Amino acid sequence: MDGMSAAAHAAATAAGNEAEPAPAKGGNAAVPQHVGIIMDGNGRWATARGLPRALGHKAGAEAARRAIEAAGEAGVGWLTLFAFSSENWRRPADEVQDLTLLMRHYLATEVARLVKEGVRLRVIGERERFGPELVRAIAAAEAATAGGTRLNLNVALSYGGRAEIASAAREIARLAAAGELDPAKVDERMFGGFLGTAGMPDPDLIIRTSGEQRISNFLLWQAAYAEFVFQDVLWPDYGAQHLAVALGEFARRERRYGARAA
Ligand code: FPP
Repeated sequence: MDGMSAAAHAAATAAGNEAEPAPAKGGNAAVPQHVGIIMDGNGRWATARGLPRALGHKAGAEAARRAIEAAGEAGVGWLTLFAFSSENWRRPADEVQDLTLLMRHYLATEVARLVKEGVRLRVIGERERFGPELVRAIAAAEAATAGGTRLNLNVALSYGGRAEIASAAREIARLAAAGELDPAKVDERMFGGFLGTAGMPDPDLIIRTSGEQRISNFLLWQAAYAEFVFQDVLWPDYGAQHLAVALGEFARRERRYGARAA
């Protein structure tokens, strides 16, 4: 986001940040438009089997593949997977290295499948922190899948909601100081246009696995009206049946966006 030109920003904003909450009229939308998943439990899954954590992450990548396929089949339009948080840099260097290698391998081997399945991949977060090689691989994968229309897949890498919001504020302040933006015009819609998710719908369902019940800095701005479903399954064991349960739970909830019950 840093360094985004005013013109690029104007274009992003003009593209419409559909991230506004839906009209406050309540009711159920059967299938969420945008699902976010906090994929948690790889380490515990590996430890329970006496395996190195790296194999937990590898099994987690298989589960991600299953979730992508299942989301597409269920008619979910947007899926955001939290693969590496800003805080994950605090893990031991060998685990960070394992995750980086896994990401690189995934990008190299999965792109053809994503293209075939009509999946458009985008990465949100501070990708630069992974170094030029992975940055190049990400850009190539985004370009190769740009024509996908069946499912929009966001992978959050070195992502933190607070960092994303701070980055947007910094850029807005910079443009205001340069006289390119009127501070009085800063509203929620404009602000959303400076986030990594500019132009994307807000998540209406956020799933976290492994029984933990925290948001952990994931899509903080965007989750304002999201439903949360916490599932007591370790991420590497996640499959289509678990996603179906979460979607069923979502469909049973009444969403009111602050309005009164109908
Ligand atoms: C949380 O488990 C998971 C992660 C920190 C990494 C998630 C990465 C993947 C699922 C693989 C890569 C994904 C893609 C899309 C290529 P944890 O290690 O925090 O588990 P624990 O809480 O049991 O220790």
